Amino acid sequence: MCGIVGYTGPQSAITPLIEGLRRLEYRGYDSAGIALGTPNKLFVEKRAGKLGNLEAALNATLPLTHSGIGHTRWATHGGPTDRNAHPHLDNEGKLAVIHNGIIENYTQLKAELIGRGHKFESETDTESVAHLLSDLRRSHGGDLSAAMREAVKSLRGSFTLLAIHADAPEVIVGVRRNSPLVVGLGKGENFLASDVAAFIDYTKRAVELGQDEVVTIRPDGIEITDLDGNAVKPKEYAITWDASAAQKGGYQHFMLKEIFEQPKAVADTLLGRLGKNNEILLDELHLTKEEVRSLKKIIVLACGTAYHAGMIAKYAIENWAKVAVEVEVASEFRYRDSVIDKDTLVIAISQSGETMDTLMALRHAKVEGAKILAVCNTNSSTIPRESDAVLYTHAGPEIAVASTKAFLTQVVAVYLIGLYLAQTRGVMDSDEVREIFDSMNELPAKIEQILETVEPLRELTRSFAKENSVLFLGRNVGFPVALEGALKLKELAYMHAEGFAGGELKHGPIALIEEGSLVIAVLPFGHEYGLDEKMLSNVQEVKARGAKVIVIAEEGAEVTGAAHTIRIPSAPALLQPILATVPLQVFAYEMAVARGNDVDQPRNLAKSVTVE
Ligand code: AGP
Repeated sequence: MCGIVGYTGPQSAITPLIEGLRRLEYRGYDSAGIALGTPNKLFVEKRAGKLGNLEAALNATLPLTHSGIGHTRWATHGGPTDRNAHPHLDNEGKLAVIHNGIIENYTQLKAELIGRGHKFESETDTESVAHLLSDLRRSHGGDLSAAMREAVKSLRGSFTLLAIHADAPEVIVGVRRNSPLVVGLGKGENFLASDVAAFIDYTKRAVELGQDEVVTIRPDGIEITDLDGNAVKPKEYAITWDASAAQKGGYQHFMLKEIFEQPKAVADTLLGRLGKNNEILLDELHLTKEEVRSLKKIIVLACGTAYHAGMIAKYAIENWAKVAVEVEVASEFRYRDSVIDKDTLVIAISQSGETMDTLMALRHAKVEGAKILAVCNTNSSTIPRESDAVLYTHAGPEIAVASTKAFLTQVVAVYLIGLYLAQTRGVMDSDEVREIFDSMNELPAKIEQILETVEPLRELTRSFAKENSVLFLGRNVGFPVALEGALKLKELAYMHAEGFAGGELKHGPIALIEEGSLVIAVLPFGHEYGLDEKMLSNVQEVKARGAKVIVIAEEGAEVTGAAHTIRIPSAPALLQPILATVPLQVFAYEMAVARGNDVDQPRNLAKSVTVE
């Protein structure tokens, strides 16, 4: 997610702004910029790359100003370039806007504004807001707060916005919808930021803004209203965190914070993906209808957790679109003479977009004539740049090495691809697509539900802290979930963990079971596969040999033989991995904490493996 700061007060604004952005660097970004308020003119500087590039560009003739806004951008719409960096300005250069989130209806807004004579500089969704605010401010007699209230009524999506105008440079206006914005209350100065880490060195008095609330800050005070201009009483609170805790949003580790960010990550990845005729909108796939209809095979290339997302893709895409899907460990595919032709689509899944194994496999496939679609969480990274098309996930920066929210959004992305292919190939009609999409839209709330009841699981996990091995079992789409649960435990708890297809147990792995073995069984979902009985037989088989079994099961599903049952909300079978994975992430996280391991930076691991 982007970092946002605003300051107005007696200090030279550049200091709290740059320091604030530095405090937000942990959020991950690929460009940075500031707009300083001086009478009648804004001073604006922005640069791609790290904060140091911006600071180097801030020349010695920097004006002494006492207000401004600053931004670190995590690119979504438009690559990480100077031009796309925030702030974005109106055509007069007197109004600046910074933004975190997604303006879902920006293309139609941009078309209307161009029609009204506005000239655009960038590829971003944000710039539309700068031009819209400029028009509305004029129609509201120069009242930026009133302009913001009206502008938000025509915006769709999730966003935090800050704006400043040269005619009243000491005033900064902000608004939030499904994206964080907090006010810092100082003595004769006030702050705005994406999170309190940005101003915690100046004040520990904060006000959290509610949904669709517009805040106006001046050095001598703040004003909060709803979109109709009705005053909202600020709810002040004292910040009890130190700066490090603030960067983790109060969570003990980035991984836990990112586990809890999953509802928003999934919601953001789904945002704007269903058209008014119940069609899946994936224009970025750049595939003609003929190319989609002539597809004979899909090959998924990925590593680690991303590979598990690819396995889930196989179940979903083959079920919905009736296209054969092969899932390949990228480092193996690279050295195989695979069968590829012009009717093969290769999907390269990568959070970082820099994994060398996946990149080299993608290059191998390209040489063989395949079309390449990247599914990636990092805008303009190498893998998307070398692909024919890219579907970006919107998990936001994932700081912890162990992938959590990126994984769930990768699975959402391949679901969207499966539905898009199914509808384009005429295999599913719009009602069927709509029904599944509606079920996907229910997933964020269901993840929240799991996270609200996570404490008993954390306590149960601590009771197993001394285990030296855990086996994970799953069938159908529960099998990749079992593999992902085992990988998380390996990565974080440095212990032996292995995932098996339930049906494979009797073909060897059951020899591992002895008195006291710990087994986690991921029950299949919904009875349509008739696999729950078979999985429960697996539970009985290992229990009979002395195993303790933790069963992950849907609410209402019959469970026998379990020592502990972790219930998750029900969902259509193919969508259940999004929910069943969450308890396994928490289990691995808590095991690492109980063992005193470095949760966010586990030993021997890198967030992006850029060597083969
Ligand atoms: C996930 O928890 C691991 N850190 C690792 O398996 C990771 O998924 C793998 O290295 C692929 O990374 P990528 O998604 O950035 O390509």
